[in-house]
Amino acid sequence: MRTAVSGHLEHPAGNTAAILLELQNVHKRFGGLHAVDDVSFKVAAGSIKAVIGPNGAGKTTLFNLIAGNLPVSSGSITFLGRKIHTQKTHQIASLGMARTFQNIKLFHGMSALECVMVGRHTRSRSGFFGGMLSLPSTWKEERAIRARSMEFLDMLGIAELADVEATSLAFGQQRAVEMARALALEPKLLLLDEPAAGLNIYETAEVARLICAIRDMGITVLLVEHDMSLVMDISDEIVVLSFGSKLAEDTPANIQKNRDVIKIYLGEDEAV
Ligand SMILES: Nc1ncnc2c1ncn2[C@@H]1O[C@H](COP(=O)(O)OP(=O)(O)OP(=O)(O)O)[C@@H](O)[C@H]1O
Ligand SMILES: [Mg+2]
Repeated sequence: MRTAVSGHLEHPAGNTAAILLELQNVHKRFGGLHAVDDVSFKVAAGSIKAVIGPNGAGKTTLFNLIAGNLPVSSGSITFLGRKIHTQKTHQIASLGMARTFQNIKLFHGMSALECVMVGRHTRSRSGFFGGMLSLPSTWKEERAIRARSMEFLDMLGIAELADVEATSLAFGQQRAVEMARALALEPKLLLLDEPAAGLNIYETAEVARLICAIRDMGITVLLVEHDMSLVMDISDEIVVLSFGSKLAEDTPANIQKNRDVIKIYLGEDEAV
């Protein structure tokens, strides 16, 4: 099978996997602040990779650079063998990248199903506005989009909430709608920015199960998360950011033993 990925990555376990995403010496400055400072890492296709670090470490900024929501100051980002750091958000999305946001972004006045259908429409031939017109040629596609969007709501366990206005749903349910909308793009890479924030332990366990199910569907996951047990349980590899710089990159087992990482989370005294 031909693949469009740019190279191969040696896993700590010894097996090699195709590289889906590669960051090389990525910098992002906001005035004098180095929010992302010379960060390089690779994401293997089919893996779950986590980016962790204290508040303000640059994790969301990094996601904004990868997804094209912000321009890099310097460095390069390669996705599926293509340089994407000069491309627009919609161009990157159309290559097969989807994301959720740390601050949930759902549309007011739309049902949960409609929010997911918007994601799905961006892949359709008629597009969102074509889909809203009553043209016979678009009816069939519209029905297919509706049915497929329902499948994603069902996968997220919220099919019965399809007709409820999305912004009136409980916080965890809104997160699920956002994830369904991202999945509706049928991405190759899914960026999840704090998917378990604000969730209780049962909801967090469900998110963990879901992320593994997404990976099992063949979608590579890059995850920002503060819930360490979730990160340690499901990640293949972890990148640790501190003040914008990469402090460490390793397996969960090695990250938990890494003294520099322990220091930034627990402080100097506890790490001794
Ligand atoms: N648009 C912006 N303009 C100026 N500074 C910004 C901007 N976005 C982020 N920053 C700054 O960049 C740094 C990194 O912020 P970022 O949101 O990426 O951190 P984070 O690791 O996601 O933190 P958290 O865990 O709290 O979500 C912070 O000092 C933040 O104040
Ligand atoms: Mg953040």
